[in-house]
Amino acid sequence: MADARTIAPADGKLGVLLVGLGAVSTTFVAGVEAVRRGRAKPVGSLSQMSTIRLGKRTEGRSPLISEFVPLAGLSDLVFGAWDPIPDDAYTSAKVGGVLNDADVEPIKGFLESVKPMPAVFDRAYVKRLQGSNVKTGANKRELADQLRADIRRFKEEHGCTRLVMIWCASTEVFIKPGPAHDSLAAFEAAMDQDDPAIAPSMLYAWASLKEGVPFANGAPNLTVDAPALRELAEQQGVPICGKDFKTGQTMMKTVISPMLKARMLGLSGWYSTNILGNRDGEVLDDPESFKTKEESKLGVLEDILQPSMYPDLYGEVYHKVRINYYPPRGDNKEGWDNIDIFGWLNYPMQIKIDFLCRDSILAAPLVLDLALFLDLAQRSDMNGVQEWLSFYFKSPMAAPGLAPEHDLFIQQTKLKNTLRWLMGEEQITHLGIEYYEHQPA
Ligand SMILES: NC(=O)c1ccc[n+]([C@@H]2O[C@H](COP(=O)([O-])OP(=O)(O)OC[C@H]3O[C@@H](n4cnc5c(N)ncnc54)[C@H](O)[C@@H]3O)[C@@H](O)[C@H]2O)c1
Repeated sequence: MADARTIAPADGKLGVLLVGLGAVSTTFVAGVEAVRRGRAKPVGSLSQMSTIRLGKRTEGRSPLISEFVPLAGLSDLVFGAWDPIPDDAYTSAKVGGVLNDADVEPIKGFLESVKPMPAVFDRAYVKRLQGSNVKTGANKRELADQLRADIRRFKEEHGCTRLVMIWCASTEVFIKPGPAHDSLAAFEAAMDQDDPAIAPSMLYAWASLKEGVPFANGAPNLTVDAPALRELAEQQGVPICGKDFKTGQTMMKTVISPMLKARMLGLSGWYSTNILGNRDGEVLDDPESFKTKEESKLGVLEDILQPSMYPDLYGEVYHKVRINYYPPRGDNKEGWDNIDIFGWLNYPMQIKIDFLCRDSILAAPLVLDLALFLDLAQRSDMNGVQEWLSFYFKSPMAAPGLAPEHDLFIQQTKLKNTLRWLMGEEQITHLGIEYYEHQPA
């Protein structure tokens, strides 16, 4: 066995700071409480439900991940949030309409206790929203300093030993990486000058890292995926990851397209469309916010299929993604995919997918896993970009110059091998030759 990494124990309370207290956040918080009260199982959470195989297949060692690595227990989680809309988690959950009253009413008092702190919010970055629960300050630096004060106060008031922060807020308008994001010095100068290149999400990320708090980005905004904040994460020894929870249609894409490539089947077109009626759908109805999402969704196919390496199969793929705001469906999204493929002698075939999913039901367990794994990374002294958490994201952050890994099952292997590596267990290569080639005695 290899040496295990030194991991600080998960003693005391872990504060989960949620930026945005909308559909995803409230479904996550309500779900954790339901599990804690024994009313439900944490379905969809790898950290809670999955086992991990250790050693050879013949050894029969497959503990639960939660028993193998020292994760914070669900009973030790406490929740904080910021939102420009002043609704507490109970009211917000009712507005979101994801969960039935039968799941919300029994935990009403608990949900009412999660009240959003005033947000750093600017309509220039999320055009379709308006809110009254908003901070004011002389400039962006001052606003970010107010967030730092919130973080410290929350930690103190709730007696937390550790914190993590997760962006579950609306998708901001598209921002191209520019000079203000190139270095920490340029970023901080831009904060002082109120540069429009510094979005609210970046101020949360900066405040989080300055306070030594790990940060995950569940939306496709640039946020922490720029040299300036990567530099700060490394300087502060803090883990970061993102971007954009991989839940519905893109998760399907990262399962189907590796299958096509594995079999060397060709692809001529992939048309994806969605109808979605929640607040996220309304925000994404704004073309500038949609552009941020579109970039995140489009990159996946090209990265997986590598058209420059396989021009005959993937050189001319027509890829289109649409999201249509359609209020009657609420959070219950319907995602259609029409996939035009070709096989032997170029004969065409089609695959159709109709995924009637529930956006926040798919996203909530990801928030839980990210909170627990980021905290584990922090206690294991892992800092900067956590590529092993790519499993959770549509646009996984990776080291500069490194192509991100999109294939869901490679991502899963990477995640599990990282856990094995942390605990000093052998990596599993799936070679398996040892079961067939017997060494002479
Ligand atoms: N399956 C999924 O649900 C899924 C998948 C991938 C990404 N996402 C992303 O997760 C995010 C949350 O989704 P949702 O369905 O909960 O949306 P939502 O609209 O229900 O909630 C977002 C909340 O963020 C708040 N907000 C906006 N700007 C803020 C700011 N600057 N500071 C603090 N709060 C702010 C809004 O007021 C709102 O309450 C979205 O960006 C969405 O694109 C969701």
